Amino acid sequence: MSVKVRIEPSGHEFDTAPGETLLEAAVREGFHLPYSCRNGACGTCKGRILSGTVTHQPYEAKALSEAERAAGLSLFCRALPEGPVVIEAREIGVAKDIVIKVLPCRVARMEKLAPDVMRLFLKLPQNERLQYLAGQYIDILLKDGRRRGFSIANSPAADEFLELHIRHVPGGLFSGHVFNTMQERALLRFEGPLGTFFLRKESDKPVILMAAGTGFAPIKAIVEQSLIEGSKRPLSLYWGARTRADLYLHDLALGWAAEHAHIRYTPVLSRPGSEDAWEGRTGYVQEAVAADWPDLSGFEVYGSGPPRMIEAAKGVLASRGLPADAFFYDAFEYAR
Ligand code: FES
Repeated sequence: MSVKVRIEPSGHEFDTAPGETLLEAAVREGFHLPYSCRNGACGTCKGRILSGTVTHQPYEAKALSEAERAAGLSLFCRALPEGPVVIEAREIGVAKDIVIKVLPCRVARMEKLAPDVMRLFLKLPQNERLQYLAGQYIDILLKDGRRRGFSIANSPAADEFLELHIRHVPGGLFSGHVFNTMQERALLRFEGPLGTFFLRKESDKPVILMAAGTGFAPIKAIVEQSLIEGSKRPLSLYWGARTRADLYLHDLALGWAAEHAHIRYTPVLSRPGSEDAWEGRTGYVQEAVAADWPDLSGFEVYGSGPPRMIEAAKGVLASRGLPADAFFYDAFEYAR
């Protein structure tokens, strides 16, 4: 049986699924209540039950004292509602409200998605979770003090692991290590979440998502989060790459479009090889967007890729009427 939850003072409402904690349901629905461990250990998710009854899954006494519980406080990551509840909680409105942490992590799994793209699944220590917005990135902290930024490729609502897509840059210090010497179970350290690239929810304008290469990673997180939330906001995804092999999760994107009427997917190759037998779109991804949408005045566009693509896109999209404040982007050089 699903249960209705209202958050005060915002008045936001959502339903929990059977067996779901208040926090799990809030994250799934895209409401940003503060959290850290999601495991009853840290107390970050503590808030007040204003009406209704919850039971708690086991938690650590230091996270919620008996006196606090008697006073109506609860750990939302452990709280199962027994009926409709009203809770009091501070919702995180913007990225700057999220705590930026430095954390160790373990490389739980490595998967080669293309000859030069590796997917890493990072596991955080027990009792640690990273709160982030879909689209944000982390900096891997190298031993010599340098850092390498990578977008998180999965939704925060499915965050048992943090997923990164690493492009191999010839001669690159970190990406070379990932491709040549890194083994599963390797330890890393990172800082995050960082960045302001995330879907603006205060608008319901149709969205164009424009990715180049591994710029697909934050776009994947945004699409997955919007699917988990059950949003029907129209999403038109354009993924630009050199060759067919560079569309390293092409089938995933095809599946989104096949299963969801509000999602369209247009792959665009800039240098298809003869072996690709490519019959789809060719050229640059921003040109494909401009060709398909002569009037972008009512849209929001989210672009992720190298700076030269983002710069080119600004001019092309503006010429189609896209307001400057409706273009959100994550411009990155491939981290070496
Ligand atoms: Fe740490 Fe709930 S998030 S106790």
